[in-house]
Amino acid sequence: MSRLSGKTALITGSARGIGKAFAKAYVKEGAKVCISDINLAAAEKTAREIGEAAVAVHMDVTRQESIDSGVVECIQKLGHIDILINNAALFTAAPIIEIKREDYDQVFAVNFSGTLFTLQAVARHMVERGSGGKIINMASQAGRRGEALVAVYCATKAAIVSLTQSAGMDLIKHGINVNAISPGVVDGEHWDGVDAFFAAYENKAPGQKKKEVGEAVPYGRMGVAEDLTGMAIFLASQESDYVVAQTYNVDGGQWMS
Ligand SMILES: NC(=O)c1ccc[n+]([C@@H]2O[C@H](COP(=O)([O-])OP(=O)(O)OC[C@H]3O[C@@H](n4cnc5c(N)ncnc54)[C@H](O)[C@@H]3O)[C@@H](O)[C@H]2O)c1
Repeated sequence: MSRLSGKTALITGSARGIGKAFAKAYVKEGAKVCISDINLAAAEKTAREIGEAAVAVHMDVTRQESIDSGVVECIQKLGHIDILINNAALFTAAPIIEIKREDYDQVFAVNFSGTLFTLQAVARHMVERGSGGKIINMASQAGRRGEALVAVYCATKAAIVSLTQSAGMDLIKHGINVNAISPGVVDGEHWDGVDAFFAAYENKAPGQKKKEVGEAVPYGRMGVAEDLTGMAIFLASQESDYVVAQTYNVDGGQWMS
């Protein structure tokens, strides 16, 4: 029997990248998934690509009414929600003296407030339903320590590690496990953007930053989204019932804690 057979999952920001890989992996394990994203057309395309076990829902995690209506629509389409992955995020980089308040507000609104209030909306549904659940937040090695040029993004991810601890401790009495995954450097469109930031700020040729970070990983290369799916399946399955409020590094050996 598949490990997530009969389960339903809402994955924010899953039109592309790591969230899309999670959705595909969950469907392979027998789950039905809701591809939610601010980009509805891309979410619908991803859902079509995955097939009948996937539905698409528009959700902008920076707006409370969009979170609320997206969660309701997901429940209407899938019946209920057993698993939530808070995956949507934006990246930003700038030297401290150049950080713009608009960037700070936007990145915290997506990465942190979006995670907190989507977690809250889905936890309310899970508590009311009384069948427990699994909530997985996407942290980052950027949340384990600060980085020159990346103060705001790092702070959002450190806040997610802390939220995972608090929510994990509060919600386990309802049978809801809250844990997080902390990736290192994962190739894809997100990292194309990161590479472009560093090309601009550190005067590097396009692709140079990616090459350097890949070589610095003890495993010997950058990650790919599929490197993270095993942990995402474990944290959504019964096998992790006794795992509470943890953040797991899945980063090829970059961070140890
Ligand atoms: N790629 C990496 O190297 C890496 C490393 C560590 C952590 N992470 C984390 O993993 C997660 C996924 O990363 P990725 O590389 O797939 O990113 P990505 O940029 O490829 O995908 C992010 C998705 O979020 C969506 N999104 C953006 N704003 C949104 C909003 N307001 N509401 C809903 N959806 C929104 C985008 O449309 C996009 O589909 C993120 O939380 C990221 O911080 C990534």
